[in-house]
Amino acid sequence: MSRILTGIQASGRPHLGNILGAIEPAIKLSQNPENESFLFIADLHSLTTIKNPDLLKENTKAVASAWLACGFDAEKNFFYRQSKLAHFHTELLWYLSCLTPYPMLANAHSFKEKSDKLSDVNAGLFTYPVLQAADIILYQAHFVPVGKDQKQHLEMSKDIAASFNRVFGELFVLPESLINEQIMTIPGVDGQKMSKSYNNYIDIFLSEKELYKQIKGIVTDATPLEEPKNPDTCLVFKLYSLIADESQIAEMRQKYLAGGYGYGHAKKEFLDLILDKYGNQRDLFDYYMADSAALEAKLKVGEEKAADIASDTMKKVRTLLKFD
Ligand code: ADP
Ligand code: TRP
Repeated sequence: MSRILTGIQASGRPHLGNILGAIEPAIKLSQNPENESFLFIADLHSLTTIKNPDLLKENTKAVASAWLACGFDAEKNFFYRQSKLAHFHTELLWYLSCLTPYPMLANAHSFKEKSDKLSDVNAGLFTYPVLQAADIILYQAHFVPVGKDQKQHLEMSKDIAASFNRVFGELFVLPESLINEQIMTIPGVDGQKMSKSYNNYIDIFLSEKELYKQIKGIVTDATPLEEPKNPDTCLVFKLYSLIADESQIAEMRQKYLAGGYGYGHAKKEFLDLILDKYGNQRDLFDYYMADSAALEAKLKVGEEKAADIASDTMKKVRTLLKFD
């Protein structure tokens, strides 16, 4: 049995890029009966950049609703908010901070990048990787599926866990990152990487009307409707192919090559495919967003289960430190 753990920042509503690149692959891993999955919303980490508690709460709700809507089984697995277990995470953060060399944090790529870009360079941004290490080793996770950008953070987590074991005694599993190099970067409506920060995303949970508006914004060339078109250079075709099955892709390819088929037609087919393929997920998302009690109940169960494990680890940590 392997323990798989990952954290998701509460930075906004998940878009199609997040769903195809992170949510669906993680749910697949969690469905393997050999695995036990821990999925949490890293709202303490989000506080490094978001200072509006209402927004943070709304984002947390949207992220949790999206994971449940996409099929994450919160009963079989562990599903929780980091802030509800903050005392465990932050206590361990402190012990680990006392083992983490200052230059390791000062030279971290993501800290350097954020401190160049942001006007608010706070201490939370600096110790961000140490809290991340605490998040992981608190639950003795073996594998951590993350995007390529998190590779260095994961190396730090492993080093910090090894330091603890060396200095205070063998306790922690040394976590390994699981970086899926095959997962492609999903393009946004402008052809750049789809991202919340570029405002070029497709939010499959929007109302049909608003979703269609986003899809209509996909950039195309000016080939007239009657003329044949090249599917392989068309962004609409590319996005459609990411979610369509083989026969649907072949059919649309033929229409492009035959001519008399406009980008507007392709966009409408893309909309219809999203509505069809993600109909169930869209309904569930709306259900959890509207029914806070149902969402809260799912998280509460996860938080209680997670607390048992975190509390057991912290007892062992305190014993090794001779605090208890
Ligand atoms: P965003 O750029 O929208 O803020 P995040 O950085 O919060 O997205 O990423 C959350 C997860 O979604 C990460 O695992 C990341 O690798 C994945 N992800 C984000 N954007 C894409 C994309 N365009 N294609 C594939 N995966 C993506
Ligand atoms: N830093 C991660 C990100 O920005 C989020 C995160 C916080 C995380 N704690 C974690 C990811 C623990 C994996 C494991 O995407």
